[in-house]
Amino acid sequence: GNKGNDPRGALIVLEGLDRSGKSSQSARLVSYLEGIGHSAELWRFPDRTTSVGQMISAYLSNESQLDDHTIHLLFSANRWEKRSLMETKLKSGTTLIVDRYSYSGVAFSAAKGLDLHWCKAPEFGLPAPDLVLYLDIPPEKAAERGGYGDERYEQLEFQKKVAECYHALRDSSWKIIDACRPMEEIEKQLQGIVLDNIVACKVGKPISQLWS
Ligand code: TYD
Ligand code: MG
Repeated sequence: GNKGNDPRGALIVLEGLDRSGKSSQSARLVSYLEGIGHSAELWRFPDRTTSVGQMISAYLSNESQLDDHTIHLLFSANRWEKRSLMETKLKSGTTLIVDRYSYSGVAFSAAKGLDLHWCKAPEFGLPAPDLVLYLDIPPEKAAERGGYGDERYEQLEFQKKVAECYHALRDSSWKIIDACRPMEEIEKQLQGIVLDNIVACKVGKPISQLWS
């Protein structure tokens, strides 16, 4: 167990449009970290396993209809219900690689036309990522990649708006990754960036809160 002074884990988030490669790259990152002896876990939002997550899942697959504000707050609640476990894991030294987080929450809702500040408000106070890896890909390129599934947001015109909203959220914790390159090349780049970041967190950088 961690007695309080041991190094904490890093909170590392992958963001990007649908089909930008987040899920593959986050899985590869966790395998890499475990392989070199780091404690790491793969997380993703939405977490469809909780009861809130099941409501989100039904909405995304068009089995249910919800007001835009309501679904926004459910996505946020789905992060809040995981907050204490997130903090416990980080404090015990486990690095979390998280596939989507509050930036998805804000970008996808703001792309529907909801007020940006209103969208950010429910995320206030969640653990702030130490690093955000934004897998940058033109929406047209993402759409070509094996096509989209049937889920609600997987449409080119909407993804273009999401890309604009993501752009407005960039801050100093973000690294923009060119996601049009071969997968292995991106994988290697991410490994380097993430290792540096984990080391920085171990030297005592405290966990901060959104939106810092
Ligand atoms: P996604 O990670 O793409 O799941 P899958 O791999 O099964 O397609 O997430 C589902 C969708 O939910 C995606 O289009 C982005 C959207 N989303 C939000 O609108 N708000 C949020 O807070 C999150 C986490 C995701
Ligand atoms: Mg998707």
